[in-house]
Parts: sequence; structure tokens; C-alpha cells
Amino acid sequence: MYLTHLSLNNFRNYHQQIVNFEAKKTIILGNNAQGKSNLLEAVSLLSTLKSHRTSKDKDLVLEGQEESKIEGILERKYGKSELSLILRSQGRKTLILNKENVRKQVEFLGILNTVQFSSLDLDLVRGAPDCRRNWLDSLLIQLEPIYSYILNQYNSILKQRNALLKKIRTSVAEGEKETIISNYLAQLSLWNEQLAESGSRVTRRRARILKRLAPLAQYWHSNISGKKEELNVIYAPHIPWSEDNPNLVKEAFLNKIEQRKMAEQYQGKTLVGTHRDEIELIINKTPARSYGSQGQQRTLVLALKLAELNLIEEIIGEPPILLLDDVLAELDPQRQNFLLETIQSNFQTLITATHLNSFDAHWLKESQILSVESGKITDF
Ligand SMILES: Nc1ncnc2c1ncn2[C@@H]1O[C@H](COP(=O)(O)OP(=O)(O)O)[C@@H](O)[C@H]1O
Ligand SMILES: [Mg+2]
Repeated sequence: MYLTHLSLNNFRNYHQQIVNFEAKKTIILGNNAQGKSNLLEAVSLLSTLKSHRTSKDKDLVLEGQEESKIEGILERKYGKSELSLILRSQGRKTLILNKENVRKQVEFLGILNTVQFSSLDLDLVRGAPDCRRNWLDSLLIQLEPIYSYILNQYNSILKQRNALLKKIRTSVAEGEKETIISNYLAQLSLWNEQLAESGSRVTRRRARILKRLAPLAQYWHSNISGKKEELNVIYAPHIPWSEDNPNLVKEAFLNKIEQRKMAEQYQGKTLVGTHRDEIELIINKTPARSYGSQGQQRTLVLALKLAELNLIEEIIGEPPILLLDDVLAELDPQRQNFLLETIQSNFQTLITATHLNSFDAHWLKESQILSVESGKITDF
């Protein structure tokens, strides 16, 4: 797929900006705080409707303005798509696909596929388990947009179940009437059922995608490390199960809920479920998070990103767009070369940089170079 055009209106520090992508590789060059990451962020919003830098739409709208608009034209094998997104400092997003309003996010997601790699991504290895879950969930949403619906549903059940558990705890503490408490407990068993149903969908999808991703990541990690290291990516669901069968997985959930019943009522929150899953990253049999050197951790993130590229291409049938933000500065020359060599002309790539030193003559010749200064883009 190929993004040919991007236009920004009151987005972050851009007033009005049109960019036409004229080569498969675009280098976005500029000093710090000029708008390089903002440009990549706009593309990733069209892709996932999420920013990895903020969860508030208000932050995305040019200060002092009420609305911002991002528009992109995408060429895919099956034809052209026009994607527009209106973000508001107050209020909901509007999604427009080919000039028609789209009500469900699911219909907008999965049209523009991207893989993002930024200097923040070391958190993927070093951060808490939710970093890895969020990463996996975003990938799943791109591959199977319906997953965004499944995940929202799970989170909403979780929230309501937590509220009820809290209510039960307070009622017990305050010596509320037996009938009221047993009414709450009856409600709880309905929520247990829902949590198990929804959670089993989440965990089975996570398991399936990791099973496909793990060997690809292992391949890349081995290559980048000169065959010296073996990477294992292992899904560690909070509620373990062995067979990908909806009834059995749901049963495992219900059993675990039953086991932890007293603790949940005592603590007043949900203690079991996919919101506590972990994705283990193991290099040469030791956890990369605590024992990996910085170099190993960087190799690992690079391997995961390249695996993501392969997997999206394999499933979607077209290469996704690669967004590289400040990544070269983070890698040593050997890994920089590896990355640039691997990308070559295989993917449309938008890459930010503060200088051109890392690129060889061949790359520079094939790239469109844009300069960014205070939210204005010009040809270099
Ligand atoms: N909503 C906003 N309105 C106006 N300016 C913004 C907004 N959000 C971010 N900025 C500005 O954008 C600049 C940072 O842009 P960024 O793309 O992150 O820089 P870099 O080129 O270093 O990647 C900062 O100057 C910041 O003040
Ligand atoms: Mg930046």
C-alpha cells in the first residue's frame, strides 16, 4: 500500500500543510521540536485511530483551535481510499471514508496498515506488562479490526464488574441487609459469565497471533545478533488453557474466578482475566526485561518490529507502511545498516532524522527529503 497524499489542518503545530509523497522512502529532516513526530503521528492516527503519545484528542488539536483534520489518500491493490479524521478539542472524533461518514471504528480500522517504530519502544521490553499487551492488541486490531470491538467489550465488562465488587465490599463492611448482598452476588454471577465469555475471545486471539509472530521474531533476532542469540516470545495468559476451544477456555476462566472469589470480594476488584496477561520475551533462556543488555533489548525491539511487518504483509497481502521515528539515533551503525538494508524498497517508509549522516548515498538517491521547521514542511 502506498500513501500518496497527506493533508493536515490545525493538527498539533501544523496550521495547514499538504504533503505529497513522491518516493517510496521519505526522510523527514528537522531539528528537535519542529513537527517531525507530529507528522508520523498523523499517519498513525489514520491507521489505528490512536496516538501512542496521548489519549486525549485535545492534545492533537492546534492550541487555541477547536477542530483539526487529517486527510490521506491511500493506494491499495484493490483501489484508492480517502481517509479523513476530524479531531475535536471537545467532543468525539468524526471518521470519513471516501467522503462518507463512518459510524463504526471497525469500518475505518485496517484500511491503512502501519508499523511504528520509535525510540519510545524500548518500553516494550523494559516496561510493565501493559506495554506489551497494548502492543499486541494494536497489532491485532490492524489485522482483525473486529478485535477492537471485542477488547472494548471486555474492558467495559471489567469496569462494571469492578464497580459491583466494590459495592459488595462496601455493603459487607457496612453490615448491609442479607437480601441486598445476595442480590448483588446474583448480579455478580452474571458478570462472571460475561467476563469469561469475553475474556476467552481475547485470550484465544492473542495466543493465535503470537504463535504466528514468534517464529518471525526469532528469525530476525537470530539474524541481527549474528546467530548468537535465540529469542523466544511466549504468551503467558493469566488464566492458562491448553486447547483453543471456546468452551474449554471459558471453563478455565470460570474455574479461576471461582478460586479467587473470596479474594476478589475482599479487595473489591477483578483479580483474574486477560488484563493481567504477560508476553514473555526470553533471550538465551533468560528474561530480556531484567537481564538483557541495552544492545540485546534494541535488537529485540527491532526483531519484533520486522516480524510485525512480515506478519501484516502475510495476512493483509500487501506491505504495510513503516513509520520510523528517531530510530536511527538509537541504533549502533551495524544495526542501522541492518535496518536500512532490510527495508530497501520493500515498504513505503517515512523516517525522521535530525541529520543525514546515517544514510548511504544509495538511500539518499532513492529518497524524497522533506525539511520541517516550526510546523512547516518544504522540499529539502
Ligand atoms: N496541540 C498543539 N498545538 C500546538 N503546538 C503543539 C501541539 N502539540 C505539540 N505541539 C508542538 O509541537 C512541537 C513538537 O513537535 P514534534 O513533532 O514532537 O517534534 P520533533 O520534530 O522533535 O519530532 C513542540 O514545539 C510542541 O510545542
Ligand atoms: Mg520527535
